[in-house]
Amino acid sequence: MRPTAPELTRPLTDPRFYAGDPFPLYARLRAEAPFVWHDEPGFWVASTYDDVMRISKDPETFCSGKGVLLMDLGRELPEIPGALLYVDPPEHTRYRRIVQPAFAPSRVKALEPAIRAQAVRLLDALPEGEVVDLVQAVAVPFPLVVIAELLGVPAEDWRRFYEWSDHAIAAGTQQTDENMAALAEMAEFFLGVIAEKQQHPGDDLVSVLATVEVDGERLNDGELMMFCGQLLVAGNETTRNLVSGGLVALAEHPDQWSRLRADRTLVPSAIEELLRWTTPVISFFRTATREVTIHGQRVHAGDPVMLLYASANRDEAAFGPTAGQLDVARDPNQQVAFGFGQHYCLGAALARLEGRVMLEEILDRFEDLELAGEPGRLESAGVVSGWTSVPMILR
Ligand code: HEM
Repeated sequence: MRPTAPELTRPLTDPRFYAGDPFPLYARLRAEAPFVWHDEPGFWVASTYDDVMRISKDPETFCSGKGVLLMDLGRELPEIPGALLYVDPPEHTRYRRIVQPAFAPSRVKALEPAIRAQAVRLLDALPEGEVVDLVQAVAVPFPLVVIAELLGVPAEDWRRFYEWSDHAIAAGTQQTDENMAALAEMAEFFLGVIAEKQQHPGDDLVSVLATVEVDGERLNDGELMMFCGQLLVAGNETTRNLVSGGLVALAEHPDQWSRLRADRTLVPSAIEELLRWTTPVISFFRTATREVTIHGQRVHAGDPVMLLYASANRDEAAFGPTAGQLDVARDPNQQVAFGFGQHYCLGAALARLEGRVMLEEILDRFEDLELAGEPGRLESAGVVSGWTSVPMILR
């Protein structure tokens, strides 16, 4: 018999739950039912830091190939070449070896001036002393123009990226004509970019990926196209919500904002703490490939497991008695917002850089962040923890 606690697990499959304050429930899960079975549609919930880490580090026992999202459960997944998130070793190792160099720290560092220019452009356009929705004005366009930069396409394309990314996410559950047409348009756009970069390579990511060879292997056009689409989805809403949620957190904790203003050396630790605090990806799934015991429970082959990063990042056993407090100087801070193990976020260095640059530029310009109304929270399928609006006055 698998242990259940329906009053604690049912909310996890209700999109409205994530638009409220989920953290009290996560605390109860960790205390009362740390590794428990959700009977509808049927998956384990891993809510402690230790279990999330242990499972993430063992892709042989807990694979990604049978789905990583709540909406993947029970579905026959199509073969998607180049979809890193859904591939297991040894194939995953091959893909990662090919794409990793394009995200090497030195390459990411080289993007800093371009990223800063985009942050400056967006922030300089903000009206000072007036209410502005920071989601639409800053958090939405910022990661999209950075991805355009990364791919070596004009920054003006960001609005199209926005639409495609939304349609790509929606197509996961609703394969409407509109969603599929947007996906086809995106595929055509990326294939055009790939063909162009193969003929006239620059120093952008697509050029690197289109020409790089590792042990005589390179990505084919289909894999490359899929990879570009994946970057758009993986690097967009996540970073958007780090920025939106990070600004809400700092506005709600004026003492932490003042500490940062007084000591800029705290910016890097503040970014780690805002990643922990906001945890933009609530959860990903794995599926057990064999029978195994976790937290004293027998997990059967084929059982899906939800890795609840948002709960792991508030686990007192890992972060001590201050786990529920925002501390921009927290050190050490082994937050798990980027996952862990083989699938550790490929864009982590880029996301950290975007977060740091945006925070530095905001600190340079504004003394005061004031919420001018209740921020809007996103209903979620258990993946993206987000904000629909953040009305703020910046002075
Ligand atoms: C705050 C921002 C971000 C967060 C919180 C985040 C979170 C994550 C997490 C939790 C995973 C692990 C998936 C798993 O274990 O199954 C992941 C993987 C990934 N992320 Fe991010 N991500 C962010 C930004 C980005 C950016 C900017 C990019 C690229 C432009 C990116 C590209 C990817 C890719 C390609 C993977 C798949 C890696 C693999 O399966 O080997 N992410 N991300």
